[in-house]
Amino acid sequence: MMRRAFITLALLSPAAAAQSTLPYRDATLPVERRVQDLLSRMTLQEKVGQMTQIDTARLMGRDEWDRGPLNPEWMKRVLADQHVGSLLSGGGVAPIPNTPSAWAEMTNTLQRFALEHSRLGIPILYGADAVHGHNNVVGAPIFPHNLGLAATFDPSLVESIGVVTANALRATGVTWNFAPDADLGVDPRWGRFYETWGDLPELAAAMVAASVRGQQGDFGPQNVATTLKHFVGYGAPQGGKDRADAIIADADLRSSHLPPFEAGLKAGALSVMVNSGSVNGVPAHASAALLTKLLRQDLGFTGVTISDWEDVKKLQTVHKVAASYRDAVKMALTAGVDVSMVPHDAEGFTSLVLDLVKSGDVPQARIDEAAGRVLAMKFRLGLFERPYVDASGAAAAVGAGRDLAAKAARASITLLANDGVLPLGRSGRRVLIVGERARDPRSQLGGWTIGWQGMPANEDTPSVTVLDGMKATLPKGAALAFSNDVPSAPNADVIVVVVGEPPHAEGDADNPTLGLPSSDVDLLRSAVRSGKKVVAVLLSGRPVVLPDDVRTKLSGLVMAYLPGSEGGRAIADVLYGNTNPSGRLPFTWPSGAARSGAMYSLGFGLSYTTFTESTPTVDKGVLNVTVSNTGKIAGTRTVLAFGRANNRDTLAAFGKVTLAPGETRRVTLPLLAGTPANSEYRTVR
Ligand code: BGC
Ligand code: BGC
Repeated sequence: MMRRAFITLALLSPAAAAQSTLPYRDATLPVERRVQDLLSRMTLQEKVGQMTQIDTARLMGRDEWDRGPLNPEWMKRVLADQHVGSLLSGGGVAPIPNTPSAWAEMTNTLQRFALEHSRLGIPILYGADAVHGHNNVVGAPIFPHNLGLAATFDPSLVESIGVVTANALRATGVTWNFAPDADLGVDPRWGRFYETWGDLPELAAAMVAASVRGQQGDFGPQNVATTLKHFVGYGAPQGGKDRADAIIADADLRSSHLPPFEAGLKAGALSVMVNSGSVNGVPAHASAALLTKLLRQDLGFTGVTISDWEDVKKLQTVHKVAASYRDAVKMALTAGVDVSMVPHDAEGFTSLVLDLVKSGDVPQARIDEAAGRVLAMKFRLGLFERPYVDASGAAAAVGAGRDLAAKAARASITLLANDGVLPLGRSGRRVLIVGERARDPRSQLGGWTIGWQGMPANEDTPSVTVLDGMKATLPKGAALAFSNDVPSAPNADVIVVVVGEPPHAEGDADNPTLGLPSSDVDLLRSAVRSGKKVVAVLLSGRPVVLPDDVRTKLSGLVMAYLPGSEGGRAIADVLYGNTNPSGRLPFTWPSGAARSGAMYSLGFGLSYTTFTESTPTVDKGVLNVTVSNTGKIAGTRTVLAFGRANNRDTLAAFGKVTLAPGETRRVTLPLLAGTPANSEYRTVR
């Protein structure tokens, strides 16, 4: 240790060596002390830089969107001249070639430039949206999107995914993840429904907390900072239109939308991203009621509040509540935004902040507070001690977790209808798979994969498609064929039609009718008209509404959500019966877009066996229920217990039990915090 410290010192410049004895450099001191010391040495410009986040596309190539090599001229303007404290890769902003080691080299180069041009040696934070694995990088396993993970009702799985994702991120120098999403998914028409955990606040809370624990750990060298997004009410935009105003009664906000954020904060999330839309007519980025009163004073948050993409400026340009960009900056800082995801024009933002401080419109103390929070995050993550990553280790770390992704996809799949056709092992010797989505991984990967709106046409990442998975799983003596369309006289016992939605993100993924693309519906229709038994596999980020003439004729309906790169393995295992499905809907499946009634109720999900459950009893904070497997094959039962009190149902306990045929077991589940004492309990059968 001694020897290493000496060598490190000897390599530093005299100025840097002097710095190394300063209190902020001393990793044994408390973070607050280091922040105070560092702030006392910084200029106003340097502090404002910490409040500024720029997209790396701005530092690449020749213009704003050109993904060429890093451009030293722009690195100088952003990192040296404006002292910018954090960078991000927005969806799709990757180095060319998009490999794990190129990512590590890119973040190392940016970090080195920042450190060498920072008087006080302040490292940068690097942010990205790793919302289902390290999804911007080719070669990373892609996990199911949150909606599918919610159907597993298994927070331990989400925690493990958090561990794997953080390790992959950190190995490429990404230290700040804009995840997990903590929005409640109340409207399936909304384009970001698949990024949510459905509409059960208690389930979302458990999943968000698990993700934060997994990713942040104890802030070791394999952990990253998490972001709870998007605070708050973003999940209920009117008409299911992304970023539309949300009308939410205060009681509903507190009982439904806040719990996932509260749970994430309790788990220690270091940052919160602001809702891009407005709540009851007030843009969240301008709302002191939300960002200061609720988040800071009521919930006790002490970390970093970051704006969403360009949203400070949008107070002027979109919401039109600010008369000028200067006013917009003032409003956002006053409301409680600490960091602006600018994301292109650094100086445009910093110059306004400086001007606002100089004119007294924003107090200097507000700058110290915001910059101090960012610095605290850097200290917690150990960035002053370990600013760089070892690029040679990036590929192995990024590639890890494929089996975990397959396990998660298997546990998510929710069987919605089955007339006995499934599993195929018995009934279908000759299976015909139909539909281009069975061999193109884009639909199963979904949005936020390699590209922002899904994997671009000219890119590829290792994935197992449904067709790949079926071929690999094919039992002896069974036959399998693929066709793009339904042949006029199919030579098959069963037709498996793989349908779904093209990959999309945010507003482009809004789907006001909840319909599938018409070509997918046509495919299903021709399949059922062929007179064969038809199983539909859905690759979609929401419940879809199928026309009655199609839906009522299906022998089997399998909801696979957006299962990720290993989706094909998981789907094949369920179809051939190697996996007995145990996923249950984390939302109510509506019968129509107008939310007229339920097609499948919350918690619905079939199995290849049958279970019975006793009426639950509650004693000393635990819920007891006796579960029996009354069928002929082994299966996992996901137990969901609700409590009813004061005219309200809340999820009171949930957990899983695996039972052999004929086996009975008493299951003991911890009662979720907040379950009213006077509740009456029932399980969802
Ligand atoms: C999204 C955020 C995301 C950010 C950075 C925004 O458009 O709303 O969820 O974190 O972009 O990519
Ligand atoms: C970026 C995304 C961002 C979006 C916001 C895109 O160009 O790549 O990360 O969320 O813009 O509109």
